[in-house]
Amino acid sequence: MQPPEGYRVRKMDVRDLPAVLEIEQKVYPAPWTYRMFLGEVRNPLGWTRAVEAEGSGLVGYLVSRYYGDVWHLMNVSITPEHRRRGLAGFLLDELVLLAADSGVDLTLEVRVSNEAAIRLYKARDFQVSGKRPAYYHDNREDAYIMVRPREGQVENRRKGRRG
Ligand SMILES: CC(C)(COP(=O)(O)OP(=O)(O)OC[C@H]1O[C@@H](n2cnc3c(N)ncnc32)[C@H](O)[C@@H]1OP(=O)(O)O)[C@@H](O)C(=O)NCCC(=O)NCCS
Repeated sequence: MQPPEGYRVRKMDVRDLPAVLEIEQKVYPAPWTYRMFLGEVRNPLGWTRAVEAEGSGLVGYLVSRYYGDVWHLMNVSITPEHRRRGLAGFLLDELVLLAADSGVDLTLEVRVSNEAAIRLYKARDFQVSGKRPAYYHDNREDAYIMVRPREGQVENRRKGRRG
């Protein structure tokens, strides 16, 4: 798979964290801290990605972690100037392949108001499996728990059967 033209995708590095934090603080009401990102970049069970644009430096990232029986998407963010170009979709497609290779489900939490992200996930066969009340500390907003079942089960669902 190739990223959209003009972009490069690679593993996130500790040296990326200042640029990552700049985007994180622009994008979220309750941004992750440096220590949180550092923990994920160093975690041997983590899978992180950084997106660079030719001439603009770092413009997005994805953080995920393997929990043994599931891959969990923890953070995906694209700076506003580079959205709607397929970047988050590309990162997510890579993670979907990783989860398929591991033979496990892929899970995440998302704000119930985050229509852009929910649409992105639903287009990749995630389904809402539950709700976490008041999950976000800044405004006590609920989170949807979304799950993308492992590959065979996605196929079964498409055929209208239970996996
Ligand atoms: C959600 C987010 C990661 C999407 O990044 P992106 O690179 O713009 O996404 P893509 O270009 O890959 O979009 C893929 C699809 O997602 C959906 N989508 C993305 N942004 C959307 C928006 N603003 N409104 C409606 N649908 C949207 C569309 O279906 C889109 O396909 P299309 O462009 O062909 O219509 C980005 O808006 C972002 O960083 N938001 C703030 C952080 C965030 O909310 N992250 C998710 C936390 S769970």
